[in-house]
Amino acid sequence: MRISHSAAALITTNSLLACVSGYSFEQSTYTNESEVPFYGLSPPVYPTPEGNGKSSLAWAAAYVKAREFVAQLDLEEKVNLTVGYQTSVCHGHTGSVPRLGFGGLCFEDGPSGIRGQDFVSAFPAGSHLAATWDKNLMYAYGKAIAEEEKGKGVNVILGPVGGPAGRVTRGGRVWEGPGPDPYLIGIQLGQLVTGIQDNGVIACSKHWLFNEQEYRRLPTINYGEAMSSNVDDLTMHELYAWPFMNALRAGSGAVMCSYQRANNSYSCQNSKLMNGVLKTELGFEGFVVSDWGGQQSGVASANAGLDVVMPWFGWWQNLTTMVTNGSVSIERLDDMATRQMASYYFLKQDEKYPDLSISPYNVQHPIIDVRDNHSQLIREIGAAGTVLVKNTNKTLPLKASTARFVSIFGYDAEVKAEAWEDPTRYGGGYDVNWGWNTFNGTLITGGGSGSNSPPYVVSPFQAIQQRVVANKGMLRWDFFSGNPTVEASTQVCLVFINSYSSESFDRLSLTDEFSDNLVNNVATNCSNTVVVLHAAGTRLVESWIDNENVTAVIYAGLPGQEAGSSLVDILFGDVTPSGKLSHTVARKEEDYGEVLNSTIDYSAFPQSNFTEGVYIDYRAFDRNGTVPRFEFGFGLSYTTFTYSNISIVQRDNVSVAEYPSKNISIVQGGHPELWDVLFEISAVITNTGEVAGAEVAQLYLGIPTAPVRQLRGFDKVMVQPEEAATALFEVTRRDLSTWDVVAQEWKLQKANYTVSIGASSRDLRLNSTIVL
Ligand SMILES: *[C@@H]1O[C@H](CO)[C@@H](O)[C@H](O)[C@H]1NC(C)=O
Ligand SMILES: *[C@@H]1O[C@H](CO)[C@@H](O)[C@H](O)[C@H]1NC(C)=O
Ligand SMILES: *[C@@H]1O[C@H](CO)[C@@H](O)[C@H](O)[C@H]1NC(C)=O
Ligand SMILES: *[C@@H]1O[C@H](CO)[C@@H](O)[C@H](O)[C@H]1NC(C)=O
Ligand SMILES: *[C@@H]1O[C@H](CO)[C@@H](O)[C@H](O)[C@H]1NC(C)=O
Ligand SMILES: *[C@@H]1O[C@H](CO)[C@@H](O)[C@H](O)[C@H]1NC(C)=O
Ligand SMILES: *[C@@H]1O[C@H](CO)[C@@H](O)[C@H](O)[C@H]1NC(C)=O
Ligand SMILES: *[C@@H]1O[C@H](CO)[C@@H](O)[C@H](O)[C@H]1NC(C)=O
Ligand SMILES: *[C@@H]1O[C@H](CO)[C@@H](O)[C@H](O)[C@H]1NC(C)=O
Ligand SMILES: *[C@@H]1O[C@H](CO)[C@@H](O)[C@H](O)[C@H]1NC(C)=O
Ligand SMILES: *[C@@H]1O[C@H](CO)[C@@H](O)[C@H](O)[C@H]1NC(C)=O
Ligand SMILES: *[C@@H]1O[C@H](CO)[C@@H](O)[C@H](O)[C@H]1NC(C)=O
Repeated sequence: MRISHSAAALITTNSLLACVSGYSFEQSTYTNESEVPFYGLSPPVYPTPEGNGKSSLAWAAAYVKAREFVAQLDLEEKVNLTVGYQTSVCHGHTGSVPRLGFGGLCFEDGPSGIRGQDFVSAFPAGSHLAATWDKNLMYAYGKAIAEEEKGKGVNVILGPVGGPAGRVTRGGRVWEGPGPDPYLIGIQLGQLVTGIQDNGVIACSKHWLFNEQEYRRLPTINYGEAMSSNVDDLTMHELYAWPFMNALRAGSGAVMCSYQRANNSYSCQNSKLMNGVLKTELGFEGFVVSDWGGQQSGVASANAGLDVVMPWFGWWQNLTTMVTNGSVSIERLDDMATRQMASYYFLKQDEKYPDLSISPYNVQHPIIDVRDNHSQLIREIGAAGTVLVKNTNKTLPLKASTARFVSIFGYDAEVKAEAWEDPTRYGGGYDVNWGWNTFNGTLITGGGSGSNSPPYVVSPFQAIQQRVVANKGMLRWDFFSGNPTVEASTQVCLVFINSYSSESFDRLSLTDEFSDNLVNNVATNCSNTVVVLHAAGTRLVESWIDNENVTAVIYAGLPGQEAGSSLVDILFGDVTPSGKLSHTVARKEEDYGEVLNSTIDYSAFPQSNFTEGVYIDYRAFDRNGTVPRFEFGFGLSYTTFTYSNISIVQRDNVSVAEYPSKNISIVQGGHPELWDVLFEISAVITNTGEVAGAEVAQLYLGIPTAPVRQLRGFDKVMVQPEEAATALFEVTRRDLSTWDVVAQEWKLQKANYTVSIGASSRDLRLNSTIVL
């Protein structure tokens, strides 16, 4: 089942052996590609553009230092900088230059906290953060994670995640990132990169590109090569590459290439993706690092634009020879080394960076506590990303009087003793991920390299019990039974279920029978049943959502270590729910169409044709007229909001020519004019209810020739009762453009664009038009 992993924890002997001997790093015995039915060949783009620092003064200064440094190195030392050392305690560590006192770069997982260490925090997953729709929290999250990584002396954080984008609904890693909307992913990536790098750590945005499923993501000796994601040029630009533009614009110092193939060429040796799109069109100044074990060739990957290989020499054990015999130019090697050092200097890591204090598992070491007060932020994000989707007759918030007698059911309510038996489950190694499994206790994150290592877990049961104690109430509980006894006088039954998912395999279902029966069984005997669902990805709810005794339903996401506290804040109304879904919840699995499941192909050269183009998630539901159970962008509050006074103001200081102007040089993030704000759109949001609450106002544009509507702005505003606030959306040239595959440029259309502002993708309260 477990094929391989990215960024493995090379900590225990066992996992080390697993890495070395597992079939993930062995080569396919199939070599004849001429029989493969090509969807598209990947066009050759050579040579690799040399990084030059032209993006900004800061990059230019970094390149001056990087060039000076690299000029002092001999061939062996340059090569050493581009390879990983597996003996290190870090998940990856580039070679050092002892002669010049440079220690190499330490890379660590991951996107939701340092994995495999103690006295570090377990943050909510990327999908949970996205459900907050809060740009400030996204920034704060990035900053806090970087504080911890930097505190331990780590140079490069293996995150944030901008792909998988979530094309495959059952995809094993969709929860690591924000979900299937490129705009939302882009904003989150940009905020995270800024937050991370403002605190001096190099962000490694991943995975570049199209790593949308786990099934056959790597080559195997049993079958053959890895899956080929065959994606057309328009879809690449408007959907999958789009969010990375934000990451690059924010300065991302590193990018990780992905495992699978793209148009039959491995991503880590795909010259179109690395030399072409990333380094030419998007002006990337930093370095590309392979996903762990993702390098599948030597010369080819070097010349296609790969700069650093992880986690060990791999195909570059003879890079020195390749350079001396001319198959890889010395300029290419210099560029590899220079790009890495440029990112190092760009983040000023040469100035007073903390010593590395990553410790091998279970080896006594001094306590280095890097958590600061991040628990507060984690609790806040936990609550802000909790999505209320049903709340009959104001069941919630609970009050001392309506919740004096509380019953708690379900395996997800408490941290199970069995989940704590094996210490490696929560941080020792890669297998930590299996600890947070159905029936193995409350789910706070998903599995794989995107997982984290909680210092403790505040379970829902524990936090609710504290509240009940304070309210002088009483509790009954049963975490095991599928058909628990409900005491006749109980006022509210809280049922906790979850849906686990992990890197290295895709899910087989979006529901499970045990959990659905549990909910229905409780509801049969309890007229006030509240369901709390921790889910790594989409979880359907049809078997009980219309049950009249199910009075409230909460998607509690993957909230991290403060899970129970965040939930209690919402349950008892200390915090008004404001989270919104960052994906569509369908009525039945088939409604997701072909992309419900990963593409299954047993051939030696498996192919996944992304023929649906940009029509995934709500774009597809809108086109097909499919009615979802809960649409993208949906979430309830304890208060109500009205929308009024839409205003659209065109900025008069920018050009609205059809194409961006030709005579401007590309900087990191792409053509600079793409980021010009062309319109400022606003609306007034009034709180017409009784409690203060935050509303996520969403802007959707109907761009001619594109899906009927696409998210192109959001603003979360806090509003007091009977007061109003203004939601503001800055619409850039890119937001209004479509990709012109002939001109190979972003293009505006002389047409009418519909503008809608609403509370979700299907609750559009204000409509207007932009005429271009
Ligand atoms: C690869 O397949 C093609 C087409 O079947 C065949 O002509 C060619 O000889 C094969 N090459 C090798 C090395 O087997
Ligand atoms: C993918 O596209 C190619 C080229 O159009 C076609 O030959 C192949 O059959 C397609 N594969 C699948 C699984 O649809
Ligand atoms: C893949 O092939 C399609 C169709 O030929 C093409 O539009 C696209 O640019 C190619 N992408 C890559 C990364 O090679
Ligand atoms: C290469 O890096 C390794 C690991 O840091 C170090 O032990 C070795 O001395 C370096 N080699 C050279 C030639 O500097
Ligand atoms: C690397 O070079 C050594 C000899 O120096 C040789 O034995 C080995 O096969 C080479 N490896 C590859 C992958 O070319
Ligand atoms: C909700 O309240 C209304 C009015 O009190 C009542 O008629 C209705 O039965 C209640 N619904 C449920 C599901 O309890
Ligand atoms: C609990 O987790 C262990 C792995 O740690 C797994 O083997 C077991 O199947 C899980 N239990 C259930 C009921 O899922
Ligand atoms: C879904 O994909 C998984 C692998 O990710 C595979 O095992 C399963 O058979 C697929 N199911 C269907 C219905 O295709
Ligand atoms: C709802 O709960 C009440 C009280 O336990 C029970 O009598 C009724 O049958 C339940 N309704 C459903 C649809 O299960
Ligand atoms: C949605 O419509 C497309 C295009 O008409 C079609 O190919 C697809 O099967 C439909 N999807 C579903 C789930 O009905
Ligand atoms: C845009 O809409 C206006 C009416 O609001 C109409 O007069 C005009 O023809 C439309 N333009 C285009 C290009 O459709
Ligand atoms: C705005 O437009 C959408 C889609 O055309 C429509 O469903 C919605 O009712 C409109 N809203 C208003 C307030 O007219």
